[in-house]
Amino acid sequence: MSIGHDPIAVLMEEHRIFLRRLQEFRRVLGPFPEKDPPPSTARASAAGFARFLAREVDGLHGRKEEEGLFPAIARHVGSEGGPVGVMLQDHVALREHQSTLSRDTDRIESDPGATEAWSRILAATEAVDDLLRFHIDKEDRVLFPMARELLSPAEMAEVAQICREIEERFGPAHRPSDPGQPP
Ligand SMILES: [Fe+2]
Ligand SMILES: [Fe+2]
Repeated sequence: MSIGHDPIAVLMEEHRIFLRRLQEFRRVLGPFPEKDPPPSTARASAAGFARFLAREVDGLHGRKEEEGLFPAIARHVGSEGGPVGVMLQDHVALREHQSTLSRDTDRIESDPGATEAWSRILAATEAVDDLLRFHIDKEDRVLFPMARELLSPAEMAEVAQICREIEERFGPAHRPSDPGQPP
Protein backbone atom coordinates (compact mmCIF):
# COMPACT_ATOMS: atom_id res chain seq x y z
CA MET A 1 0.00 0.00 0.00
CA SER A 2 1.58 3.32 -1.06
CA ILE A 3 1.42 6.29 1.30
CA GLY A 4 -1.22 7.90 -0.91
CA HIS A 5 -3.51 4.93 -0.30
CA ASP A 6 -2.63 4.47 3.35
CA PRO A 7 -4.69 7.04 5.26
CA ILE A 8 -2.83 6.43 8.52
CA ALA A 9 0.57 7.06 6.90
CA VAL A 10 -0.80 10.33 5.48
CA LEU A 11 -2.14 11.40 8.90
CA MET A 12 1.23 10.60 10.49
CA GLU A 13 3.08 12.60 7.86
CA GLU A 14 0.74 15.52 8.57
CA HIS A 15 1.61 15.18 12.27
CA ARG A 16 5.30 15.69 11.42
CA ILE A 17 4.39 18.81 9.41
CA PHE A 18 2.31 20.16 12.32
CA LEU A 19 5.15 19.68 14.80
CA ARG A 20 7.63 21.41 12.48
CA ARG A 21 5.22 24.32 11.96
CA LEU A 22 4.63 24.59 15.71
CA GLN A 23 8.35 24.61 16.43
CA GLU A 24 8.92 27.28 13.78
CA PHE A 25 6.14 29.45 15.20
CA ARG A 26 7.51 29.11 18.75
CA ARG A 27 10.93 30.16 17.46
CA VAL A 28 9.45 33.28 15.81
CA LEU A 29 7.53 34.22 18.97
CA GLY A 30 10.51 33.60 21.26
CA PRO A 31 11.93 37.15 21.44
CA PHE A 32 8.57 38.92 22.06
CA PRO A 33 7.48 39.20 25.72
CA GLU A 34 3.80 39.45 26.60
CA LYS A 35 4.09 42.86 28.26
CA ASP A 36 5.21 44.67 25.07
CA PRO A 37 3.14 45.38 21.95
CA PRO A 38 4.36 42.90 19.29
CA PRO A 39 5.88 44.09 15.99
CA SER A 40 3.98 43.54 12.74
CA THR A 41 6.09 40.49 11.82
CA ALA A 42 5.08 38.72 15.04
CA ARG A 43 1.42 39.72 14.55
CA ALA A 44 1.43 38.40 10.98
CA SER A 45 3.10 35.18 12.08
CA ALA A 46 0.48 34.66 14.82
CA ALA A 47 -2.35 35.29 12.35
CA GLY A 48 -0.77 32.81 9.91
CA PHE A 49 -0.48 30.22 12.66
CA ALA A 50 -4.14 30.72 13.68
CA ARG A 51 -5.20 30.14 10.04
CA PHE A 52 -2.95 27.10 9.83
CA LEU A 53 -4.62 25.59 12.90
CA ALA A 54 -8.08 26.32 11.56
CA ARG A 55 -7.51 25.07 8.01
CA GLU A 56 -4.89 22.35 8.18
CA VAL A 57 -5.00 20.97 11.70
CA ASP A 58 -8.74 21.19 12.37
CA GLY A 59 -10.31 21.74 8.94
CA LEU A 60 -8.47 19.09 6.96
CA HIS A 61 -6.66 16.69 9.28
CA GLY A 62 -9.19 16.78 12.13
CA ARG A 63 -12.02 16.27 9.67
CA LYS A 64 -10.31 13.21 8.17
CA GLU A 65 -9.94 11.74 11.64
CA GLU A 66 -13.43 12.62 12.85
CA GLU A 67 -15.30 11.66 9.68
CA GLY A 68 -13.06 8.88 8.40
CA LEU A 69 -10.80 7.07 10.84
CA PHE A 70 -12.44 7.55 14.24
CA PRO A 71 -15.90 6.23 13.29
CA ALA A 72 -14.26 3.12 11.81
CA ILE A 73 -12.33 2.49 15.05
CA ALA A 74 -15.40 3.28 17.14
CA ARG A 75 -17.32 0.52 15.37
CA HIS A 76 -14.92 -1.91 17.08
CA VAL A 77 -14.29 -0.29 20.47
CA GLY A 78 -17.04 2.32 20.92
CA SER A 79 -16.29 6.00 21.42
CA GLU A 80 -17.59 6.91 24.89
CA GLY A 81 -14.83 6.79 27.49
CA GLY A 82 -12.40 4.94 25.20
CA PRO A 83 -9.41 6.15 23.21
CA VAL A 84 -11.59 7.63 20.46
CA GLY A 85 -13.53 9.64 23.07
CA VAL A 86 -10.28 10.95 24.55
CA MET A 87 -9.04 12.05 21.11
CA LEU A 88 -12.34 13.80 20.40
CA GLN A 89 -12.05 15.68 23.71
CA ASP A 90 -8.56 16.78 22.69
CA HIS A 91 -9.95 18.05 19.37
CA VAL A 92 -12.58 20.10 21.21
CA ALA A 93 -9.93 21.60 23.52
CA LEU A 94 -7.67 22.36 20.54
CA ARG A 95 -10.55 24.07 18.74
CA GLU A 96 -11.13 26.31 21.77
CA HIS A 97 -7.49 27.43 21.79
CA GLN A 98 -7.65 27.94 18.04
CA SER A 99 -10.70 30.18 18.33
CA THR A 100 -8.90 32.21 21.04
CA LEU A 101 -5.97 32.62 18.65
CA SER A 102 -8.23 33.63 15.74
CA ARG A 103 -10.18 36.13 17.81
CA ASP A 104 -7.14 37.69 19.48
CA THR A 105 -5.01 37.84 16.31
CA ASP A 106 -7.88 39.81 14.69
CA ARG A 107 -8.07 41.99 17.77
CA ILE A 108 -4.37 42.80 17.83
CA GLU A 109 -4.34 43.46 14.10
CA SER A 110 -6.90 46.23 14.60
CA ASP A 111 -5.23 47.46 17.81
CA PRO A 112 -1.48 46.59 17.93
CA GLY A 113 -1.25 48.03 21.46
CA ALA A 114 -3.71 45.47 22.87
CA THR A 115 -1.16 43.67 25.03
CA GLU A 116 -3.85 41.69 26.87
CA ALA A 117 -4.80 40.10 23.52
CA TRP A 118 -1.12 39.39 22.84
CA SER A 119 -0.78 37.80 26.26
CA ARG A 120 -3.78 35.53 25.50
CA ILE A 121 -2.19 34.61 22.15
CA LEU A 122 1.02 33.57 23.88
CA ALA A 123 -0.89 31.56 26.52
CA ALA A 124 -3.03 29.84 23.85
CA THR A 125 0.11 29.02 21.86
CA GLU A 126 1.66 27.46 24.95
CA ALA A 127 -1.51 25.41 25.49
CA VAL A 128 -1.59 24.31 21.84
CA ASP A 129 2.05 23.30 22.07
CA ASP A 130 1.40 21.04 25.09
CA LEU A 131 -1.87 19.64 23.82
CA LEU A 132 -0.89 19.00 20.21
CA ARG A 133 2.39 17.28 21.08
CA PHE A 134 0.69 14.98 23.58
CA HIS A 135 -2.28 14.36 21.27
CA ILE A 136 -0.07 13.47 18.31
CA ASP A 137 1.98 11.16 20.50
CA LYS A 138 -1.17 9.32 21.64
CA GLU A 139 -2.45 8.96 18.09
CA ASP A 140 0.90 7.82 16.70
CA ARG A 141 1.70 5.38 19.49
CA VAL A 142 -1.71 4.10 20.60
CA LEU A 143 -4.68 4.90 18.39
CA PHE A 144 -3.18 4.41 14.95
CA PRO A 145 -1.47 1.09 15.76
CA MET A 146 -4.81 0.00 17.26
CA ALA A 147 -6.57 0.94 14.02
CA ARG A 148 -4.07 -1.12 12.02
CA GLU A 149 -4.88 -4.12 14.23
CA LEU A 150 -8.65 -3.71 14.24
CA LEU A 151 -9.66 -2.49 10.79
CA SER A 152 -10.18 -4.96 7.99
CA PRO A 153 -8.70 -4.14 4.55
CA ALA A 154 -12.21 -3.19 3.39
CA GLU A 155 -12.67 -0.81 6.32
CA MET A 156 -9.24 0.74 5.72
CA ALA A 157 -10.12 1.23 2.05
CA GLU A 158 -13.35 2.94 3.10
CA VAL A 159 -11.40 5.28 5.43
CA ALA A 160 -8.97 6.03 2.58
CA GLN A 161 -11.87 6.91 0.28
CA ILE A 162 -13.45 9.27 2.85
CA CYS A 163 -10.06 10.94 3.43
CA ARG A 164 -9.50 11.39 -0.31
CA GLU A 165 -12.92 13.02 -0.70
CA ILE A 166 -12.16 15.40 2.19
CA GLU A 167 -8.76 16.25 0.66
CA GLU A 168 -10.46 17.01 -2.65
CA ARG A 169 -12.97 19.28 -0.97
CA PHE A 170 -10.73 21.00 1.57
CA GLY A 171 -7.11 20.30 0.56
CA PRO A 172 -4.50 23.02 -0.04
CA ALA A 173 -4.91 22.94 -3.83
CA HIS A 174 -8.47 24.19 -3.41
CA ARG A 175 -7.66 27.11 -1.16
CA PRO A 176 -6.61 30.65 -2.01
CA SER A 177 -2.91 31.21 -1.34
CA ASP A 178 -2.11 32.33 2.18
CA PRO A 179 0.57 35.00 2.45
CA GLY A 180 0.77 34.44 6.21
CA GLN A 181 2.16 30.93 5.73
CA PRO A 182 5.81 30.11 5.16
CA PRO A 183 6.54 28.14 1.98
FE1 LIG B 1 -6.39 14.10 16.25
FE1 LIG C 1 -3.98 13.58 14.18
